Amino acid sequence: MVAPPGRCPQGDLATIAPMENGRQLDLLEPWAIGGVEIPTRLVLAPMAGVSVQAFRRQGRRFGAGLVCSEMVSVAGIRHRNERTLGYLRVASDEHPLAIQIFGSDPGAMAEAARMVEAAGADIVDINFGCPVKKVTKTGAGASLLDDPGHAARIVEAVAGATALPVSVKMRRGTENGSRSCLEVGPLLVRAGAASLTLHPRSARQMYTGTADHSLTAELVSLVDVPVVASGDITSRARAQAVLATTGAAAVMVGRAAQGNPWALAEIMGGPGEPSREEVVAELLLFMRETVRELGEQRATSFLKKFYGWYLGRGRFPRPFKQELVMLPTIGEVETRLLAAAPGASGVLERLEANLGDVDEVLLDSLPISIYGGG
Ligand SMILES: Cc1cc2nc3c(=O)[nH]c(=O)nc-3n(C[C@H](O)[C@H](O)[C@H](O)COP(=O)(O)O)c2cc1C
Repeated sequence: MVAPPGRCPQGDLATIAPMENGRQLDLLEPWAIGGVEIPTRLVLAPMAGVSVQAFRRQGRRFGAGLVCSEMVSVAGIRHRNERTLGYLRVASDEHPLAIQIFGSDPGAMAEAARMVEAAGADIVDINFGCPVKKVTKTGAGASLLDDPGHAARIVEAVAGATALPVSVKMRRGTENGSRSCLEVGPLLVRAGAASLTLHPRSARQMYTGTADHSLTAELVSLVDVPVVASGDITSRARAQAVLATTGAAAVMVGRAAQGNPWALAEIMGGPGEPSREEVVAELLLFMRETVRELGEQRATSFLKKFYGWYLGRGRFPRPFKQELVMLPTIGEVETRLLAAAPGASGVLERLEANLGDVDEVLLDSLPISIYGGG
C-alpha cells in the first residue's frame, strides 16, 4: 500500500516548512489515513472530467502522496453502467489511491464501497461537496450537509461494508457563510470516517470567492482524525501557510495542477517552470496514456481542454493552442507538437522508459475490454 519512495523528481530538495504557531512541517513526512500510509503531505484533488489514470499517475510522479479518482456514481455502479465501471480501473503504480463515490442511498453506497474495495483502491472517499444541481437534486453531494443525520448514516453504512478506511470530502455548507461542516464533520467521524477533506467554500459559491481556511483550522480542533485542506493551494508558500495556520495533515491541489504537474513539484520544493520540451513531452505522454485508457474517440474530445492548460501560462503563443484544438486526429496533434518542440521526443523517450509496463488490477466480473485502450 505504501507508494514506492522517491517518486518526486525533486524529492531530495529541502521541504521543511517554516515554524509558525510552533508547528514545523515537512511536506515529505509520511502520514496515514486509517492503516494506509501516505508518503507526502500533498494530495491530488478529485476532479470530474480531469482525474483520469494518466492524471493520477502523473501526480504521483510529481510528488503527490495520495491521488483520487473523480466522483463515481453509485447508481451507475449499481446498474453496471459501462462508463461508470471504467472509473474503477486501478493501475499498480497509483497506490495509495482513493476512489470517490457519490449517492444518497446508504445501501447503494455500501454496495459501491465493496466494489471499490474489490477494484483494488486503498481508501473509499465519499463526496459531500459536489455543488452541481444534477447531483444535489438527487439528495447527493453537498446537499447532504443540510441533513447531518442522513450523512452520518451513509458513512456508517459504507464504513460497515468495507475493511478500507473511509474518508469524506465536503464543502463548508450549502449557503454562503454556512458553518455546517463544523457540525457535520464530528458526526461523520463518530460514524466511522477516518479522515475529512474540507473545501471551505459554500456550494452556492461554486468556485467564486476564496476558500476560508479559518474554518479548516476550526474543524481540525474539533476532530481527532487527519483533516486535508482543499482550496486555492497554488504554490509552496501557500501550502506551507495553510498547513502551518490550520493544523491540517495535508494540502490538496486541484486546478493549479491541471496541465501543470510542475505546480506539485514546486510545492514539494523543486523548480516550478519547465522547459518547452518538458511541457510538450509531458503532454504527449498524457495523450498516449489517455488514448490507452479511454480509446481514441473519447480521448480526442477529452484532451482538447488539456492543450490550453499545458500550453498556456505564457509557454506557447495562444494561436498555437487554437490550431491544435482544430486538428481532427490525435496523431496530427502529436506531429504538430513535435514540430514545435523537436527536442521533446528525447525527453518523452526517457519518460516512457522510466514508466515501464504497468499492470492494471481489474475486476474479474467486468467486461473491461469494451472500455477500449486497456
Ligand atoms: C473541474 C473540476 C472538477 C471537480 N470534480 C470534483 C469531484 O469529482 N469530486 C470532488 O470531491 N471535488 C471535485 N472538485 C473540487 C476539487 O476537488 C477541489 O476541492 C476544488 O477545486 C478546490 O481546490 P483548488 O482550488 O485546488 O482547485 C472539482 C473541481 C474542478 C475544478
